[in-house]
Amino acid sequence: MTRFSKDFIFGTATSSYQIEGAWNEDGRTASIWDEFSSIPGKVWNMDNGNIACDHYHRYEEDVEILKTLGVDSYRFSIAWPRIFPEKGKYNPDGMEFYKKLISLLHSANIKPAVTLYHWDLPMWAHEQGGWTNRESVKWFMEYAEKCFEELDDQVDMWITHNEPWCAGFLGYHQGVHAPGHKNMEEALKAVHHILLSHGEAVDYLKNKRQSTTPIGITLNLSPVYPASDSMNDQLAANNADGYTNRWFLDPIFKGNYPLDMMNLFSKYVHDYSFIKEGDMKKISIECDFFGINYYNRSLVEFTSASDFLFTSAYSDYDKTGMGWDISPNEFKQLIHRLRQEYTTLPIYITENGAAFDDTVAPDGKVYDVGRESYVEKHITAVAELNEDNMNIAGYYLWSLLDNFEWAFGYDKRFGITYVDFLTQKRTLKNTGFRYAEIIKNRSLEKILI
Ligand code: FCB
Repeated sequence: MTRFSKDFIFGTATSSYQIEGAWNEDGRTASIWDEFSSIPGKVWNMDNGNIACDHYHRYEEDVEILKTLGVDSYRFSIAWPRIFPEKGKYNPDGMEFYKKLISLLHSANIKPAVTLYHWDLPMWAHEQGGWTNRESVKWFMEYAEKCFEELDDQVDMWITHNEPWCAGFLGYHQGVHAPGHKNMEEALKAVHHILLSHGEAVDYLKNKRQSTTPIGITLNLSPVYPASDSMNDQLAANNADGYTNRWFLDPIFKGNYPLDMMNLFSKYVHDYSFIKEGDMKKISIECDFFGINYYNRSLVEFTSASDFLFTSAYSDYDKTGMGWDISPNEFKQLIHRLRQEYTTLPIYITENGAAFDDTVAPDGKVYDVGRESYVEKHITAVAELNEDNMNIAGYYLWSLLDNFEWAFGYDKRFGITYVDFLTQKRTLKNTGFRYAEIIKNRSLEKILI
């Protein structure tokens, strides 16, 4: 039975830098992504978010699309450099945009789910060390407190951080995301301060403000499998799982970093004194829900040529346009593992979706069959997980719109709405129509008329 209760939340997700544009309007200053995308070789085609989907000016039209879809909720993020364009200087004009958006969502009966940090760190913060500087926790709190003060009574759910793995490891270790550094010590410090700022924000909202709005964090998790049964490949899988998943799950749910990984990382990080007394308790503070972004499984094998002894292995699974394995069964295994090892909190799938090479057909439609099948498989998995009492409370499809896909620029389309970036024309893809049908019926079964 692939049915959903009436309380189950169906939504779509976006993030500020990927859709807003209006990069220098109403007082906004630069973020690390404005800077990173201006450096040749960092982003495909030297694309940037200056205009993106021009959502800042077209949000009314975009809320109309949400209404057509019939979603219960819309997940978006706030651009920190709009709210604090300079250190210590609040900008009410930047906040105004989110107030207008939220009130429009309310009038459409759509619940706002708001992410505070989806990677657009203000340049002023970066210039003082960014997330590697422990002061970043204070800067983030000043921003978070202002958002709570102005918006908490109208927000249905707060997400402190989106995917600290990407912000920390892709940004400071692998160098493929802003700010483009390649330094493991910086990466671990950045992650630690991001997690600490999460704990501080939860503590502040719940205990100091006494708010009842649910708050949590979103991690990107990818279940890791060894390419063979060999001891070496199993070691590789253990390390990859530590690097991708446990480095984040363990501090949040168990209040410690995994020792095997601390040991492995100590090849590059000789001093863990940035972890101060009380930090782990703060990081593992109880939340109201747990957010997961799920895209694909990972298959790895041993190599002595990489820092942490693992590398991606050849996989014969069908792939999305990102080259990622389509793996709904492994998604189910991941959730079962989380229930056994980590948490009983309600889980929201805060992102799931796929990029494919879409085109608009001569009849004006977008026949995105690959995406439709991907989405159906994963929503079916969610329904099956709930039959097993896995308590998945909601599902947010990534993404409402084709948008700036980070280092891939506009080359990769994740939207259920096609965006022509020359004209800004929006066209709902077939998956969008199918999603609307699923939401309306609260079921994957096609209801024949
Ligand atoms: C996630 C990000 C999101 C988007 C999707 C495809 O890692 O949170 O912004 O880029 O991947």
